[in-house]
This record gives sequence, C-alpha cells and structure tokens, in this order.
Amino acid sequence: MEILFINGSPNYKGNTASLALDVLKDRVFKQVNCIDFQINVYGQNLPGDQFEEILNLMKESDIIIIGSPMYWHNICGSIRTLLDRFYGPVNEGELKGKKLVFVFQGAAPEKWMLDAGDYTMEHFARLYGLDYLGMVTNRREALVISKKI
Ligand SMILES: Cc1cc2nc3c(=O)[nH]c(=O)nc-3n(C[C@H](O)[C@H](O)[C@H](O)COP(=O)(O)O)c2cc1C
Repeated sequence: MEILFINGSPNYKGNTASLALDVLKDRVFKQVNCIDFQINVYGQNLPGDQFEEILNLMKESDIIIIGSPMYWHNICGSIRTLLDRFYGPVNEGELKGKKLVFVFQGAAPEKWMLDAGDYTMEHFARLYGLDYLGMVTNRREALVISKKI
C-alpha cells in the first residue's frame, strides 16, 4: 500500500501534519508539502510548473491524505489550486480505486466552514473516482478514520 500525504500548510510539522499523523499512526507514508512545489494557478502558464509531479505521485498511491489548514474560512489556496488544476488534464474517474481522506483544521473553525470543505472534497473524489473515506477535523475523528485505511 502506497500512502501519500499532501500537506497544504507551509508548516512541515504544523497542526495539519500533526492531525494527519494521528490518522497515519505508524504507517509508512510519503509526505509532499505544497510549499516545496510550484503549482501554477488554473490558467497560468508560467515556466517551472510542477503540477504533473504531484499528479504522478497521486497516481502511484493507493491512499491519499490531503491536508489543509483553514484559511479565510475555507480550504487553503495551495490545495484549492491543486484541485483546480485537475480540470482539463485529468479525466473523470482517472483515480478510480484510490482512497482519499481529507484532514482539515483551523484556529476556530465553524461547522459550516468545515462542511463546505467536506462538500468540495466529496465532489472532487466522486468526479475523479476516488473512494472518499471522509474528513478529519480532530483527534477523535482521526482515530476512527485510521482504522479504515
Ligand atoms: C492566511 C490565514 C488565514 C486563516 N484563516 C483562518 C480561518 O478563517 N479560520 C480559522 O479557524 N483559522 C484560520 N487561520 C488559522 C490556521 O488555520 C491555523 O493556525 C491552523 O492550525 C494552521 O495549521 P498549520 O499549523 O498546519 O499551518 C488562518 C491562518 C492563516 C495563515
């Protein structure tokens, strides 16, 4: 089982990564930090774009954990950009069979903000064929999901 953790936070060992670790426990996984990659925003054609690198890592994985800190009541920009970039180069159902977990936390998140992130991820997963195991916003939820991966 190849497990990939995509960390949308600029903090390698911040709260997002910490919560993802609660999901992953002692599993072997690869951590990719969006901050280390140049991912052009949708429609931007600047040289040095590394979207394909992240996409290929996702394609090589069986379980994908996407982690985002809440920024401005929403999924952070780096992860939103990553999702946006699927539109076009990735076919519907192309990641079929892979499992997806969404780790989402903030300083003072309100339920409707977390629900909006969950809604986005659920629809992203459905479009590209991923099996969405759900959203993790705290340690208790991490424990539940960790048993499913
Ligand atoms: C630009 C920015 C916007 C933020 N907006 C929110 C917000 O709307 N709601 C919230 O609960 N926390 C917000 N935060 C706080 C972070 O979500 C919080 O500190 C989080 O735990 C950081 O995760 P990390 O340690 O993985 O980077 C914001 C932080 C930043 C830097």
